[in-house]
Amino acid sequence: MSKPKVRGKFITFEGLDGCGKSTQLEKLAAVLRVRGIDVVTTREPGGTIIGERIRAVLLDSRTAGLDPHAEMALMFAARAQLIAEVIGPALEAGQWVLCDRFTDSTEAYQGGGRQLGSDAVLQLHQALCRGLWPELTILMDSDVSSSVGRARRRNLAASAETPDENRFEKESYAFFTRVRNAFLETARREPQRVVLVDARPKLEIVHPQIVRVVFERLIEAAGKKGSPA
Ligand code: TYD
Repeated sequence: MSKPKVRGKFITFEGLDGCGKSTQLEKLAAVLRVRGIDVVTTREPGGTIIGERIRAVLLDSRTAGLDPHAEMALMFAARAQLIAEVIGPALEAGQWVLCDRFTDSTEAYQGGGRQLGSDAVLQLHQALCRGLWPELTILMDSDVSSSVGRARRRNLAASAETPDENRFEKESYAFFTRVRNAFLETARREPQRVVLVDARPKLEIVHPQIVRVVFERLIEAAGKKGSPA
């Protein structure tokens, strides 16, 4: 009989647009792979063929008049597909999944930014994501003007061939302040899962901090419990 597989670990990265989380996620994945860990990286909204089509609708600045509830439903539709196709099977197979955004983003952007509230988001999560939460969430905190400014410059500089992903970046300073505050509130509510990392220092300074958090929370802790990392 084959040995039962150890379930993999699920880590998410959260933060404002342009906070540097995608780069940090890839750098962490590289460190874990060197340790022999089988890592899958993915992103939200997107990560599957269907999810990427939903992403195009959600982020294209030509998507005018999208109702906030419809926006929230589309975020969850992409997520449910990603869990079914990618996250769930990878964790079952013992792989580690690093995901760029997850339900904390919906709580921050739709719950906080669009003011739909946390309860609706958490209820939908329960129904549609079957209670799946990450073991660890790295919340990269940054001030609104520098991170959103960086995201806007990046997307404006994108070539004509890349899809338009500017819809959220057109939102106001007040919107992103609500988003940031909602993220910080989640970190206060769930300190056992969400670790706040200051995203403002240089990339090379932030990276080792993230590696340390992952090792302390997931690798050393698993060793102490006697289970393999
Ligand atoms: P992302 O590709 O991470 O953008 P960036 O690299 O600029 O941070 O995310 C796309 C956008 O979608 C981003 O503006 C946040 C938004 N978003 C939500 O509003 N709700 C959600 O649930 C998710 C996953 C993303």
